[in-house]
Amino acid sequence: MLDAASVERRLPAGGLGLPLIFQPRVGSTQTLAGELAAAGATHGTLVVADEQTEGRGRHGRRWFTPPESALAFSLVLRPNLLSGAAGSRQLAAWNLLGALALAEALEALGARPAIKWPNDVLLEGRKVAGVLLEVEWVEATVDRLLMGIGVNVAAGAAPPGTAVDYPATSVEEAVGSLPSREDLLLSIVGRIDAYCQVLDPPAIVAGVNQRLAYRGQGVQVGTGSATKQGILVAVGEEGEIVLRVEGEGDVHLSGADPHLRPLDVPRE
Ligand code: BTN
Repeated sequence: MLDAASVERRLPAGGLGLPLIFQPRVGSTQTLAGELAAAGATHGTLVVADEQTEGRGRHGRRWFTPPESALAFSLVLRPNLLSGAAGSRQLAAWNLLGALALAEALEALGARPAIKWPNDVLLEGRKVAGVLLEVEWVEATVDRLLMGIGVNVAAGAAPPGTAVDYPATSVEEAVGSLPSREDLLLSIVGRIDAYCQVLDPPAIVAGVNQRLAYRGQGVQVGTGSATKQGILVAVGEEGEIVLRVEGEGDVHLSGADPHLRPLDVPRE
């Protein structure tokens, strides 16, 4: 079981992660964080669970969090976003920075992660972690964000191929040893904190591009309004994906709940 008192002691005062709400077993940290945020939870509130029974992934999928083997947490964030195009770039950066923080935390363990746009983290071509960013609007203004992060830490945390639409792995399987969940949690939250202290969208986009999965390879991207196939060029300045499409040149794609799939990797 995660030692919540120890996590709390190690979180820096004034940084993200406090107050810390720890639940041994919960439906979804994201749902609980949403309820707490609606009731006024402050910026930086961290909801962590040892086990989730109704974990939620992107695209309305289930997210598996068996006990004592994974990380599952949600941060309540209340950023002051600029208006107009600068605000859109900031929101895109928020959507990317969780995956970047995850990738850096895994690199500190000696792993070589890749980021599958927009915010999945892969080790050896398999998904090890994901980010669910939910935005609560009040009229045209972002009131709060809920950043939910799930990491398959121990081998037993990775769901079987039949249960997911993308092959999964765990940190333990990919790195060859089992890291401390407490250390990994603090490393990820600390890196998210550093990125949001001085939100620098170009630096975040550059960090993602350095680790971008399938760059130069054929992919299919669905954005709700359109599905395109092409060669993955990069993540653009607005957080969108840029594909080189035959006969069309470089096409910039973004939209709610986008989906990217490599063309040459068979599904399990
Ligand atoms: C994805 O589909 O890749 C995103 C997965 C996000 C899962 C995390 S686990 C903690 C938080 N609580 C949830 O119910 N979902 C997110």
